[in-house]
Formats: sequence, C-alpha cells, structure tokens
Amino acid sequence: MESCLICSTEISPFIDFGKMPLGNGFLLPEQYEQEYFFSMRVGFCPVCGMVQLLEQPDRERMFHDNYAFFSGTSRYMAVHFREFAEGVMERYLAEPDPFVVEMGSNDGIMLQNFAAAGMRHLGVEPSGNVAQVAREKGINTVTEFFGADLARRIVAENGQADAFLAANVMCHIPYLHTIVEGIDLLLKPSGVVIFEDPYLGDVVEKTSYDQIYDEHTFLFCTASVSYLFARYGFEVIDVEPQVTHGGSMRYVLCRKGMRPVSPAVPRQLEKERAMGLHLPETYDRFRKKCEESRDRLISLLRELKAQGKRVVGYGATSKSTTITNYCGITPDLVEFVSDTTPIKQGKFSPGAHIPVRPYEEFVSSYPDYALLFAWNHAREIMEKEEAFRASGGKWIVYVPEVGVLE
Ligand code: SAH
Ligand code: TYD
Repeated sequence: MESCLICSTEISPFIDFGKMPLGNGFLLPEQYEQEYFFSMRVGFCPVCGMVQLLEQPDRERMFHDNYAFFSGTSRYMAVHFREFAEGVMERYLAEPDPFVVEMGSNDGIMLQNFAAAGMRHLGVEPSGNVAQVAREKGINTVTEFFGADLARRIVAENGQADAFLAANVMCHIPYLHTIVEGIDLLLKPSGVVIFEDPYLGDVVEKTSYDQIYDEHTFLFCTASVSYLFARYGFEVIDVEPQVTHGGSMRYVLCRKGMRPVSPAVPRQLEKERAMGLHLPETYDRFRKKCEESRDRLISLLRELKAQGKRVVGYGATSKSTTITNYCGITPDLVEFVSDTTPIKQGKFSPGAHIPVRPYEEFVSSYPDYALLFAWNHAREIMEKEEAFRASGGKWIVYVPEVGVLE
C-alpha cells in the first residue's frame, strides 16, 4: 500500500502499466543501456478523489536543460493561450499595475501576451533551454522550480501577485502542498489562481489512458482540486472545459468568500458524481477498457504488417510513450515517428526505440497508414494533411476507439 500524495490515505493501484521510461526521454542508441524506467502504477484515493501515480521519477530527470517539449510547436495552442491571457486580463486584472506569475511558462507561449500588453509578469520555468527561448522574446523568466521558498523571494522582490497562472503543469507536481503554500504566500488577498490540465472526466470517458505518464502525476477533477485547495482556504469559483490536450479543465480559485462562485462549479461537481468519478468501480471499468484498447491496437498493427502495409507514427508526443510501451509497439510495426521538433529528430522513442524523423520524411514518402499519436491536435493536423489523405493515406486512431479513418 502507498499513501495518497494529497491526504495520506493508504491506497492501492487500479492499473499497473509495468515498467515505463520517461515520456519525453527521447534518446540515442548509445544511451539504451542506461535508460531509466519506473514502475507506472495508478491509484485512486476514495477520500480526496485524487487519481495519481504511486511512484514518480525525480523531477530533475524530467525537467532540465534539454527538455524536449516546446509549447510553441502547435499554432492552435498559441491561439489558445492568447485567448486565455485576454480572458484573464479582462476578467481578473482590474487593479492598477497588476503582477502576473506563471508556473511552467516554458517558451513564453502564454506570458508573451502579458508582456506585449506591458504588464508586470514573471515566468517560473526550471527547464533551462525552453526558459531561454522565453527570455530571448523579452519575457521575464526565472529558471527554478516553483515552491514556497521561491514564492517568498518573488514577493520580496516584486510584491504580491494579482494572478497565478499555470497550464499543463500543476498536474505534473507530486509535491503539490508546497505549491499551494507558495501560492498562498504569493497572492494578494483578492488574487486569483487560474490553471488548466487534462481532465479526469475526459480521460475516463474517452479511455485516453495515454494522458498517464511520468510527468502527469495527477489527473484532476473539480472535486479533488476543491479538496486540495480548501486546506489552504481557497475555493473553486469557476470551471471552464477546454478542448485542448484531448479535453482539459480550467479551474479558477480565490480565497474563500472573496468572489462569487459560478453556478458552473456545483453543476460540474454534480456531473462528476453522475459519471462516478468518486467511485472505485469506475476505475476498474477504466482498466478493462484500457486493456481492450491495447489489444485492439496491437492486433490492428500486426494485421497491417501481415498485409505488408507501411505504418508511420505522427507526432512523437510524450503521451505516445505510454501507448508504445504498454501495447508493445516495436519498430517493425511502426517504421518511424514523424515530428517537427528538432530536438527529437534523429533520436529514438523512449522504451520502444522507434526512430523519430523530421516531418519532411513523412511528406516525401507517404506511408499507407499514419498512426495519430498527436490525436489531441487532430483538427490542426487533418487540415494540414489533406494531401496525405488525397493520396490514399489512412489515419489510425485509438481515442476514443481504435479504428481506421477511411
Ligand atoms: N505551460 C506550457 C508548458 C507545459 S509543460 C504549456 O501548457 O504548453 C510543463 C512545464 O512545467 C515544463 O516546461 C516544466 O519544465 C515545467 N515545470 C515542471 N515542474 C515545475 C515547477 N515545480 N515549477 C515551475 N515549472 C515547472
Ligand atoms: P503534444 O501532444 O502537444 O504533447 P505531449 O508531449 O504533451 O503529449 O505534442 C505534440 C507533438 O507532436 C510535438 O512533439 C510536436 C508534434 N507535432 C507535429 O509533429 N506536427 C504537428 O502538426 C503538430 C501539431 C505537432
């Protein structure tokens, strides 16, 4: 038995994915021998409602000066974060000379909008290479992990913040208590916390189990977020579903009683109960669906190989590390993975060791099938890849169901 990272209740796994490498651990053959693996087991805490990894790699293994994920690789995400920033400015930054802090600001995809508006801002980004890209764009960024100590220093230098923002990072952090303590120190009494992450409800509904990997310590829902933050005197005042990353939720919080609570919050809590997100049985059903999905995908790939078809992966996402390793997808089934990120190209996928090649190789010799690993960007990719389809190419998808798009 392990204990819940949020409330210390003893919990056990509802699914065991076996040994997994780092989702973003793209590597070269000479590094195979030292490749790091951890035991990826996921548990549900019936007391606080948190779905969580029971073991996590050390944070320095994941976030460092060669971090492979650059937020700016998706055009749609840039639009998404511009709208996110505009919404925050309109609705929550009425005080004069506001100060905004973003945790996990990466290459500055969100903060660039605050910088362009001439607003005081600070990005906290421990991965040195992506933080440097932000700095080069004129975005104030410190290369550190956020926590209570850093919050004290930020306040000493800049005063308290009006807004604390985070996208796709809160769920990465096993030591969430020091994060919320830091937020409490950092924010003005009327300050707001706004963050978004992949939503547990979507993962369960779509069997998108690839949202589970080393960096995603938690899968949040409104109930579990409320529980955690209530311990520090905060309450959720709004929730807004997002289409990004295959279904995310944006949570808006502030100190209890400081602002009205939107009716969307009790409505979402009600929906979560109707979906059974508070029940252990839900996660047993989820495990069975993951197993079925895995079996169907590997059978399909084996069948295509037997027919002599060429299959190439599209998007060397960190998520796909869970798919390739859990399903046992090997380079003889998927020839290579096409990706636009220079740092990933020429390397091999974590664990499964499928070559990652530049996008140009996909275009220069279309395969019979493209396995859509970056399914969360499906709209953007389908628009871009009309010619692949027109040439007779077919897409293999696995969320919400395994299938071929004819
Ligand atoms: N917000 C961006 C990046 C998400 S990736 C987006 O949504 O696209 C997660 C980022 O959080 C990485 O760049 C990682 O280096 C950073 N990160 C991880 N732990 C952190 C911590 N404790 N404090 C601040 N940033 C952190
Ligand atoms: P993403 O799904 O955003 O992230 P995660 O790693 O969190 O699962 O990663 C998208 C990956 O797909 C990234 O490596 C860039 C690549 N990509 C392409 O190669 N082509 C594209 O058109 C898009 C949108 C992404």
